[in-house]
Amino acid sequence: MAESNTDGRPETATDRAAHGAAPGAAPDGAALREAGLRLDVDGAVATVTLNRPERRNAMTFATWRGLAAIGRSLPADVRVVVLRGEGPSFSAGIDLGMFSGEGDGFTDGSDAEGSDRFIAELQEGYTWLRRPEIVTVAAVHGHAIGAGFQLALACDIRVAADDAEFCMKEPALGLVPDLTGTKPLVEIAGIGRALELCLTARTVLADEAARIGLAEIVVPRDGLDGAVRDLVTALLAVNPGAAVATKRLLWQAPGNTLEEQSAAERREQIGRLREMFGR
Ligand code: CAA
Repeated sequence: MAESNTDGRPETATDRAAHGAAPGAAPDGAALREAGLRLDVDGAVATVTLNRPERRNAMTFATWRGLAAIGRSLPADVRVVVLRGEGPSFSAGIDLGMFSGEGDGFTDGSDAEGSDRFIAELQEGYTWLRRPEIVTVAAVHGHAIGAGFQLALACDIRVAADDAEFCMKEPALGLVPDLTGTKPLVEIAGIGRALELCLTARTVLADEAARIGLAEIVVPRDGLDGAVRDLVTALLAVNPGAAVATKRLLWQAPGNTLEEQSAAERREQIGRLREMFGR
């Protein structure tokens, strides 16, 4: 995860550039269409819509590169990013046409270094969603399969409609989940549940998703947009600098000892105090 400033200020474009998350050129309409994405930025809220409903929002390499480009070019005043799907599903995962030669530059793994770079580039479409200066919300309805499930897992908070169905299908297709989903899945559900879900590729319905922590909020299908709007309003009401610092703290907590985490809390709080009361 990219670091951000530790003095409690909301991150600026300059800060992002300093941390390797430099704003790049925003993808234009044609690039977004090719990626099967739509981007709407309204002040502090960016909404990314998976927009190939006729393919159940199946994702291609262009989709993942498009997501990465959106992450790189996000305006510095965006504080919340919502990921949603158009049509009946959040996403049916990788476009299965990619396996039959329709995908550009598909890697067969024979060049290990090249394949590693190739997959790392695709993973960038997911990793930026963890940056502390934004809070990311997945609004999941219908199917969230494979790469779609992993996209929801890459977000900070998942709001699910009661028709949501999560499935980690990759092992059933002979592959592993490689779009950064294994870490959050284990951290959320525990190793036993993660193994059971991945190695059976079974579907988790919304009720169970809420029970095992895969969804923070479950609402009736027609209440999804309203629930996301309410959540976004609540997130924006919190002090921006405190939100950035707190997200940074919470995400590092699982990897830290109590001592390290206590020290991190002190550092962040000193930044907040300076921001609020310093001269
Ligand atoms: N890739 C390409 N096209 C897809 C697709 C996919 N993943 N999922 C659905 N579609 C297409 C269908 O082919 C169909 O096209 P036509 O209208 O031209 O026939 C259209 O979308 C609608 O699909 P269905 O008629 O099947 O819709 P449904 O509501 O009955 O079922 C579904 C929806 C359960 C998602 C079903 O389509 C399905 O099982 N899709 C495949 C899911 C899948 O296996 N995804 C890969 C997961 S692995 C992964 O994502 C990670 C990785 O990196 C390997």
